[in-house]
Amino acid sequence: MTTQMINLAQDRERGLTLGAELIKAGQLVAFPTETVYGLGANGFDYAAVAKIFEAKGRPADNPLILHVAHREDALPLVSTFSDTAKRLAEIFWPGPLTLVLPKSGIIPNNVTANLDTVAVRCPGHDDARALIEKAGVPIAAPSANTSSRPSPTRAQHVLADLNGKIPLILDGGECTLGVESTVLALEPKPLLLRPGLVTKEALERVIGEVEVHAAVLAEASEDGGAPSPGMKHRHYAPNAEVFVVTGESCAEITRKICESYDAAHARGKCVILATEQTAPFYSGRNYVIMGNRDKPESVCTSLFSCLREAEAAGAQTIFIEALEAKGAGLAFMNRALRSAGFRFL
Ligand code: TXA
Ligand code: MG
Repeated sequence: MTTQMINLAQDRERGLTLGAELIKAGQLVAFPTETVYGLGANGFDYAAVAKIFEAKGRPADNPLILHVAHREDALPLVSTFSDTAKRLAEIFWPGPLTLVLPKSGIIPNNVTANLDTVAVRCPGHDDARALIEKAGVPIAAPSANTSSRPSPTRAQHVLADLNGKIPLILDGGECTLGVESTVLALEPKPLLLRPGLVTKEALERVIGEVEVHAAVLAEASEDGGAPSPGMKHRHYAPNAEVFVVTGESCAEITRKICESYDAAHARGKCVILATEQTAPFYSGRNYVIMGNRDKPESVCTSLFSCLREAEAAGAQTIFIEALEAKGAGLAFMNRALRSAGFRFL
């Protein structure tokens, strides 16, 4: 199969029209959202959804998010939309929040990996919502990467992973947030399954206490204890050995990175994922700047593209600076630790 790429900045109508036609015909379409690129299929079509799992090499026990164009389009997908869910949808939709809700009877089992809940989100990206609206069905979409690879924040990342496996990529430029949506379960009480840029703190201002699932910052057990099946699979890993480097201060982090770098670089190329504040400490070494430590959302936004950049530069070892795990820093640490397979220094 040849993979066509259409630039939405130049050819929006044609791109969205062809995209919607392909979705209706049971094909896959990669499309931009404000978080990361999604790999979409008709969420009501079992066979189309099965193609997502095949193209990504995704384990069948990892359920998908259904994307809707309007808040109210979530209603037929769930059996109950609680007051808490309504309040969250009113405030955060369209936007980077996914709600896990009891599912209605109309959703194919492969979307939810046979769970009795469904994950729903209304994306905060005009082209994404326009595509869903034109297709006339909810779009099931995981991130448009090969399973276990870093999520794609540019159309080129999608092409690198899925060229020849899908008919169309809609190129909407760089994703503004760069990290996937927050995933929140509500029953029996609010539980954060995947942190994102709708932070725990922002959710708590609306609905009170939100618990953070233990597997957000730790390795989930293989025994099925993970309520979000995605937690237990390898994630976000580039083709290199990755370490997250923690410390009490920037001075400690940079010192540990420089020591490990100098010990490792004779054996193969090393790249440091640095921040504006720490970059001066790495002169003479290979580094890329993710963002500003005082704006953890900026560091989050470029983590995945920096991982891919370091990989493309031939890195054999990648050192990622840790951030404090609160606010957007929690989303960052969740992704960084998984990309490192929980190896840290
Ligand atoms: O920002 C995003 O959410 C992007 C864009 C494309 O919308 N999508 C995305 O999808 O990140 P994916 O499939 O890569 O991640 C979905 C996560 C997985 O960790 C999955 O296990 C979890 O949501 N999930 C989906 N349905 C669930 C359910 N019913 N219960 C618990 N977790 C669920
Ligand atoms: Mg993903």
